[in-house]
Parts: sequence; C-alpha cells; structure tokens
Amino acid sequence: GHYDTGGFEHYLLKEISEQPETVARTLRGRLDERFHIAHLGGLNMDARETRSFRRVKIIGCGSAYYSGQIGAQLIEELARIPADAEPASEFRYRNPVVDPDTLYVAISQSGETYDTLAAVQELKRKGGRVIGIVNAVGSAIAREVDGGIYLHAGPEVSVASTKAFTSTAVAFALLALHFGRVHDLSPADGRRIVDGLAKLPDQIEEILKQGDRIRDFARKYAGRPSIMFVGRVRGYPVAREGAQKLKEISYIHAEAYPASELKHGPLALIGPEMPTVAIVPDDELLDKNLTTLGEIRARGGNVLMIGHREPDAKLADDAIVVPKNEIELDPILLTIPLQLLAYHAAVALERDVDKPRNLAKSVTVE
Ligand code: AGP
Repeated sequence: GHYDTGGFEHYLLKEISEQPETVARTLRGRLDERFHIAHLGGLNMDARETRSFRRVKIIGCGSAYYSGQIGAQLIEELARIPADAEPASEFRYRNPVVDPDTLYVAISQSGETYDTLAAVQELKRKGGRVIGIVNAVGSAIAREVDGGIYLHAGPEVSVASTKAFTSTAVAFALLALHFGRVHDLSPADGRRIVDGLAKLPDQIEEILKQGDRIRDFARKYAGRPSIMFVGRVRGYPVAREGAQKLKEISYIHAEAYPASELKHGPLALIGPEMPTVAIVPDDELLDKNLTTLGEIRARGGNVLMIGHREPDAKLADDAIVVPKNEIELDPILLTIPLQLLAYHAAVALERDVDKPRNLAKSVTVE
C-alpha cells in the first residue's frame, strides 16, 4: 500500500514518532480490565498447556534479541518462570538441547531473518514448541511457528528498528501477564500491569515532546569518537539497544555494559574523551546506579542520564527525564530517548539515516 515519510524528513523519525499509535495497536483488544489478564488468541494454547511450561527461551537477532532480553526479564518477574534470551544466530549453530518443557519464542520484525527462521526450523525438527512475536503478517517465520503474537505496528521501512522494538517489548509484557495470571501473579499486580500498559501511549507522546532537547544533546555528543552505555538489570537491555542504534545509524563507536561490570574492566576506558549514557530506572537499584554515576564523574567522564528524575548536578552533566510507569514497564519508556539520540546524532553527522552503509533491512541469507 501507499507508505511515505508523511512529511517527516526520514522514515526513521516518522517511525519513532508513530510509537504512541503503534504501541496502542499492539495492545488493542488484548487487555482485560475486568480480570486483569491479556487476551492472546493467536497463541493457540489451551489453559493446561499455558500452565505447563517450566522455562522460556527467547531467540532473535540484533535489536530483536535485545527486546527479547527485556521480554525474558518480564516473564521472570511477572510469571516467575525462568526465561532467557539468546541470539538466534548463535543458538542455531551450537546444537542446543531442545527441551519438551521449554516454550521457545522467536522474535522478528520482518519475519524473514534467515538465522531466526533456521533456528525455528531446527527447533521444530526436534519437537520444540515455538511461538512467534512477529510484525510482518504471513511472513516465513509467522508461517513456521505454532502460534504467536502479531505486533500490528505497520510497515517498518527504516533499517534501524524502532517501533517494532517497543511493540515487541509490549507484546512480551502481555505474554508475561498472560502466563503470570495462570501461575501466581495476583489480581492486584495484574491490574497494575494492565493499567500501566494502557498509560504507555500517552507517556510516549510526552517523551516525543522533548525531541528538541534530545537533539541538542545529540549534537553535543556526536563529535565524540566513542560512547559508553550502561544500565543495571532492567536498564541493561535498554543500554544495549541504545548502543546498537547509535552504532548502526551514526557510525559512532558505542559499547554497552552492565553498570555493575564497569569496575571489572571497562572503567579503564572512562575519561574526558569517553562520555557515558546511563540508563537509570527508578527502581530498587537506583542508589547503586547513582553511585556508578559518581564513579564515572570522578574519572572525568561526562554523563548523560536517562531516568525518571532530575539528577544531582554532581552526578550527571545532562539528563533526559521520562515519565514513570510501573517498574517492569519502564524499560519501554527509557528506550525512546535513545532512539531520538541516535537519530539526531546521525542527522548531525549527515549519515544516510534510513539506509546505513553495509546493512540490509532484513538479513534473508546465511
Ligand atoms: C535493528 O535496528 C537492526 N537493523 C537489526 O538488528 C534487526 O533488528 C535484526 O536484523 C532482526 O531483524 P528482524 O526483526 O526483522 O528479524
């Protein structure tokens, strides 16, 4: 169908800006305000089966894998089912044990990524139960899986994934709620998540209003050769996605580390040349994260903090404050400023924003 940049300078900015609507579309018809559950008919799974899994293994490539890391944390926190994510490209080559008590979840925006498709086919060959979280309806991966969740985010044209990433995280929140409510997630916690999910579109809109401010920070930091991204637990997959986005479209070197690992090595990189983007959710790790910021500043490193409150000037040079939701859902909101940061850095450096060098929108070959 007809699809253009709709008055935006790039598809990427259009797709970032669409997220209030695309997140709403991923949620549409799936939240039950009465029983605080999620309706996910596409899973094709009865109640007995939904209760039967002992583990969840999530696979995907690149940004899909990072959104899967957010998903694994959501499933562990809300459903208390052990879950982890792994790059599909690695999984398919290491002859993994295919466990009958594990639910496998394959993530793909395009539904055509060859490594992810090959991993799904290998799983199915060995009797694994696989569901998909996919954007492109009727795509190869969507056809191969036993059921799943469509994102309904609409076509994503820009090579860098943005709206598919946030919609995937939202789909995982729905899945975690769905599993949680047949395990031991209380009705009160179910309501908390249902209400939190419903608030996301308006909160994303609030973040988008800070675009000019984020552009100023992007211009300030775009001249640096390398940028460190750090986050703890819920903030870590967000940091990884932020670094990936920046690398992909601005070609600025970026590293993502768990904030807790800095002192085990990469702190040696920190100094006036290397600024840090710190993801600081307002959760039980807030104090630990603030201590880390102090350690970075003490080595002369500049800090741009992405969090939910204005930091002390001693701890951060700059800050982007985003609205607060439930702690489990905050990673979704904390991702949005990083997309805008990468976008504006790429524009400032006059990169080919929608078609970065050496990359394809979907890697359909080995
Ligand atoms: C994201 O910005 C990248 N272009 C890339 O990592 C992408 O997410 C990955 O190739 C997976 O694509 P898929 O979701 O279409 O399978």
